[in-house]
Amino acid sequence: MSHYLFARKPLKLLLEEARGENRLRRILGPVGLTSLGVGAIIGTGIFVLTGVAAHDKAGPALILSFVIAGCACVFAALCYAEFASMVPVAGSAYTYAYATLGELFAWIIGWDLVLEYTVASAAVAHGWSAHFQDLLASFGVHLPFRWTHPPFDFNPEIGAFMSTGAVCDLISIGIAALITVILVKGIRESAGFNALMVGFKLAVVLFVIVVGAFYIDPANWKPFAPYGYSGLSFFGKTIFGQHGPGGEPLGVLAGAAIIFFAYIGFDSVSTHAEEAKRPNRDVPIGIIASLIICTVLYIAVAAVLTGMVPAGQIDIHAPVSDAFRQKGLPFARRLIDLGAITGITSVLLVMMLSQPRILLAMARDGLIPPRFFGAVHDRFRTPWKSTMLTGLLVGVMSSLIPLRVLADLTNIGTLFAFIIVCSAVLVMRRMHPEAERPFKAPLFPWVPILGIFFCVVLMFSLPVENWWRLFAWLGGGLLIYFLYGRSRSVLARIRAEEKPR
Ligand code: ALA
Repeated sequence: MSHYLFARKPLKLLLEEARGENRLRRILGPVGLTSLGVGAIIGTGIFVLTGVAAHDKAGPALILSFVIAGCACVFAALCYAEFASMVPVAGSAYTYAYATLGELFAWIIGWDLVLEYTVASAAVAHGWSAHFQDLLASFGVHLPFRWTHPPFDFNPEIGAFMSTGAVCDLISIGIAALITVILVKGIRESAGFNALMVGFKLAVVLFVIVVGAFYIDPANWKPFAPYGYSGLSFFGKTIFGQHGPGGEPLGVLAGAAIIFFAYIGFDSVSTHAEEAKRPNRDVPIGIIASLIICTVLYIAVAAVLTGMVPAGQIDIHAPVSDAFRQKGLPFARRLIDLGAITGITSVLLVMMLSQPRILLAMARDGLIPPRFFGAVHDRFRTPWKSTMLTGLLVGVMSSLIPLRVLADLTNIGTLFAFIIVCSAVLVMRRMHPEAERPFKAPLFPWVPILGIFFCVVLMFSLPVENWWRLFAWLGGGLLIYFLYGRSRSVLARIRAEEKPR
């Protein structure tokens, strides 16, 4: 049995599959790929979650939180890049895991990626809604609270969830529906349109940094770390630093664990490997360059935001635009709202585009029902059923579940995926040292080891309930695999047929 669990999908087969489908044109160089990466990264994390992280978790030391979360991502990105160069086909950690670690790990990662893409999209849709509402509010238009917020939220003062009095957030549902229609109809993500959106959001981020710098009052940086520099707990027991009334860790590490969300998305560069001119070289460059650009920008935005407004007065819904409102700059506030809406739209497009394609890959491998998840629309040539299911889940979750819950769940799921990718690099170097690796993570074995270390620390800096949610999610996933996927796996069938009787 273990033979099948760890069966690896031959690289030759992967490359043949990629050739068999309508081949995409190889038009993307390192700049185009980096732009796609930045398009997928900058969104709700920087425009929204910085508020909660600075207000409730880290204070001005959020600047350090960004450095720490950035380190975790850079190490993981180097490992990702090594995989992307070894298996240069359009895919994701799921495909890499299938080619290198075998079916069981591929399944675990594929199932876990639902947290990274679908749950993240729900969190990202919240940010869209918050900025849309803020933009309307800047013109004096206030939508009814009942229909623009989730029905419950976490109250950090009492450390528990409470009812908000709202019914659901119809705006989140609206944006999820709109993106779903666009994706079902199959606007192929055009590099030109993406570059425009990325250009605008980068311009707005630079505007925040440059203009905001004139409004910094260094007194706002004191005290620099009101909740301390750590924030680590072990299954509910605080082992390092302070904790809040609900037992959740506080401090720089706790802040890093939340705003880790802001970095998610760099791996989407690898989904464009088929369109890359030189995938072995350009995909690693795209992954690493987009991450470095975002890290530098994020650190600067965190410094400006916490310098402009005292941490206790930072808004938690639209913190960056609100900081400019507090300074009496309505034009800047609207510009930032527009930049956030544009930026978040591009993140949503990438995330909601990637999820059905990962499901499609899993369906083709027989691990989930191919009739549903593998269905490609006759006219639009898109995986329409799974795109609609993804849209439905994103809409329902974002309208009912508060942002913090969705963001933390995304974070723990993605950190877990990164740990598997870093471990896989360690395992593969040992087991298959001969495999061709056009890009090698430097300073081996330190880069993957540090990647694992940072990700584990951040997982333990999240509130404990996220662990239980992750265990429940993975447990459910394993159940599905053993009840369904294992016996229907295409690879297992091929192997069984090949076996001499
Ligand atoms: N990094 C993406 C964002 O912040 C998920 O919206």
